[in-house]
Amino acid sequence: MKDKINLLKEQFLKDFENVSDLKSLEDLRLAFLSKKGQVSTLMQELSKIPNEQKKEAGQLINGFKQEITAKFDEKMKELKDLEEQMLINSVESYDESLPAFSEIGSYHPITLVQRELEEIFESMGFDVEDYNEIVDDYHCFEALNIPKFHPARDMQDTYYLSTKNQLLKSHTSAAQNAIMIKYGRALKEEGRPIRAVFPGRCFRNEAIDACHENTFFQMEGIMIDKNISISNLIYFMKTMLSEVFERDVTVRLRPGFFPFVEPGFELDIQCLICGGDGCPSCKNSGWLELCPCGMIHPNVLKAGGINSEENPYEYTGFAFGLGLTRLAMMKYGVKDIRTFNEGDLNALSQFVSK
Ligand code: FA5
Repeated sequence: MKDKINLLKEQFLKDFENVSDLKSLEDLRLAFLSKKGQVSTLMQELSKIPNEQKKEAGQLINGFKQEITAKFDEKMKELKDLEEQMLINSVESYDESLPAFSEIGSYHPITLVQRELEEIFESMGFDVEDYNEIVDDYHCFEALNIPKFHPARDMQDTYYLSTKNQLLKSHTSAAQNAIMIKYGRALKEEGRPIRAVFPGRCFRNEAIDACHENTFFQMEGIMIDKNISISNLIYFMKTMLSEVFERDVTVRLRPGFFPFVEPGFELDIQCLICGGDGCPSCKNSGWLELCPCGMIHPNVLKAGGINSEENPYEYTGFAFGLGLTRLAMMKYGVKDIRTFNEGDLNALSQFVSK
């Protein structure tokens, strides 16, 4: 075994000398230290040698492993520093005396509205969560009580990827299940209510007009605890709207159907562009659908592991899906939703946070 290790060491040192970049270093590391590498092979051979030699041989193999691991780490640092230096040297020379920025950029209006809302909800004890833009069919639909072939899917025709079962999320509700699973334990074991908002970009195969885009933002919110009722939902919606608009806005609540809430509502805002008279921004109705909401359906709570089969109504909760892009339209008086995606800096650089 000793001879074998010495031979391997020799071979290693020879190969190591020829390493010139991170790729060849990684190849050598795999050849020696991966699961099927030389060191693992030596370990397997250990079982075949007489018992009295095992201890010494084991120590030799471990010593060899530590020695080459240290060499790999050292070389890795050396090569990374070198790469960084080469990158710095490759940058064209610059004039140090020039001012750092001649023009300062501005935040996109959706970012401004999103941050403002995050602050409002954080002040009410909500956690802010981030979620993927690519989701699977289960999270976007099935976990939300929308089985395959359910007609409610037609309302959210989105973009499917060629990878099986994956799609661009059509609504932020797609994160509900994951949030319930993430916070469910704290709810049940520590009695900590689930209060979370999760903003995100959504995608739909949509006929685009002044108030519909194929790529837009929503902010979802859920609150789950014992005895949560519609009164809690209305309180949070009212507080949120009065803080965002800082003035009286007229809203209306009417029944709305979404398979993942029961009962479900549509919360509309009177169009602030035309004052309710009707214009293209509100499809001439005087109202804009802004924030559908409702009490979370028992099947959704069950899928999220919140309630058990035996006690299906132990916890209740509300959910809402705020149209962030539309909210930005109303807040800033933007007549056409397409302005947000067009990338016209003259239009987009006018907005400032309050
Ligand atoms: C939904 O997306 C539900 N997931 C909302 C929900 C959550 C209901 C929780 C109940 C409980 P809806 O398709 O209506 O619902 O979209 C919600 C909001 O997103 C709309 O009111 C609107 O403000 C905005 N929205 C929807 N489609 C578009 C679009 N194409 N362009 C811009 N905004 C849109």
